[in-house]
Amino acid sequence: MRNILVTGGSGYIGSHTVRELLKNGFNALVLDNFRYGNRDILENVLRVPYVVGQIGDKKLLDLILSGNHPINKGKEIDAIIHFAAYIDVNESWEDPAKYYNNNFIETFNLLETILSPNHKRINANKTNNLIPIVFSSSCATYGIPKENEIPISENIPQNPINPYGRSKLMTEQILSDFFKAYGLSSVSLRYFNAAGADPNSDLGENRKLETHLIPLTLDALSGNKEYINIYGNDYPTPDGTCIRDYIHITDLAKAHVKALDFISNSGGCKFYNLGTGKGYSVREVIEVAKKITGLELVVNETLRRDGDPPILVASSEKAYKELKWKPIYSDIETIIKHAWLWHKFKNNL
Ligand SMILES: NC(=O)c1ccc[n+]([C@@H]2O[C@H](COP(=O)([O-])OP(=O)(O)OC[C@H]3O[C@@H](n4cnc5c(N)ncnc54)[C@H](O)[C@@H]3O)[C@@H](O)[C@H]2O)c1
Repeated sequence: MRNILVTGGSGYIGSHTVRELLKNGFNALVLDNFRYGNRDILENVLRVPYVVGQIGDKKLLDLILSGNHPINKGKEIDAIIHFAAYIDVNESWEDPAKYYNNNFIETFNLLETILSPNHKRINANKTNNLIPIVFSSSCATYGIPKENEIPISENIPQNPINPYGRSKLMTEQILSDFFKAYGLSSVSLRYFNAAGADPNSDLGENRKLETHLIPLTLDALSGNKEYINIYGNDYPTPDGTCIRDYIHITDLAKAHVKALDFISNSGGCKFYNLGTGKGYSVREVIEVAKKITGLELVVNETLRRDGDPPILVASSEKAYKELKWKPIYSDIETIIKHAWLWHKFKNNL
């Protein structure tokens, strides 16, 4: 298994995973519409081939998967890592159609294209199989876990509380049905909060519209923004702010390589949490960022947002055991230190 199609590979998690794929001897081909990603990173940092297009464009996918697209002539795709999606929970409330259309219907078209007999591949066990897929799922599929369900394991009930989370759960359910009916192998990785930047400082969070706590905090600390918002200070947590499990982006990227190894050897339909088992409140993250940068910022405490569970912390025991994956960079200080180095590089500070 060498040729990997990476959908959404110009985005935050996709670009770091492309780097890990290259380090591990895979060929990566990116499919992205660049609605949110960054073309420059593919051309000048990662130097990988890419196709501009939609993940739901079946004709385009047929060409790419069979190695008949000019960009990968003669090189069939052996596996897919599917990152492409819209990711803003708040926007998914304002415009759920946008989220169901992109994250669910477009993904459904992608999965239906894989089912074509033209795209069967001989795998390591010499059997004829559909192209396996690693899917970016999310802790948002769990909704609000009960107190005794934290840290969250994969087998607690999934009750997402926003359209974004529902679009991810619907895809997981299709993957499960497609495995039972058609033998399509998949690994769904339920990420907790992806954060930090590549230790080389040449890749990191680089969104046109940023909504994530750490880059927004660094923007406020360095004067790019006037203040940082804390949404809700009356949650049932020790300091009243939401608690999240932050996983370093390089650890997350490495998990995708492990998932590819696993799926090429074992097949199946698997679901894994990716987190650290340790949670930090919004206030704690801001305090660590102040300490690491040595800078001060203005904090604006405002109302809760819809659809923010108070505490999301993972148990990743299953991934440790079955994928043989363990986070190595994911302490909060290292995460923020790497994010800060990237922030300075990106902003020429
Ligand atoms: N960032 C997190 O903390 C987090 C947590 C849980 C799950 N996830 C999931 O991980 C994946 C990647 O997230 P990210 O943070 O890298 O997001 P991102 O916005 O940085 O990257 C997503 C990429 O997908 C592309 N894209 C979106 N829809 C597309 C389409 N229809 N066709 C082609 N390209 C399309 C965008 O242009 C962008 O480059 C998403 O599926 C997201 O739901 C992210």
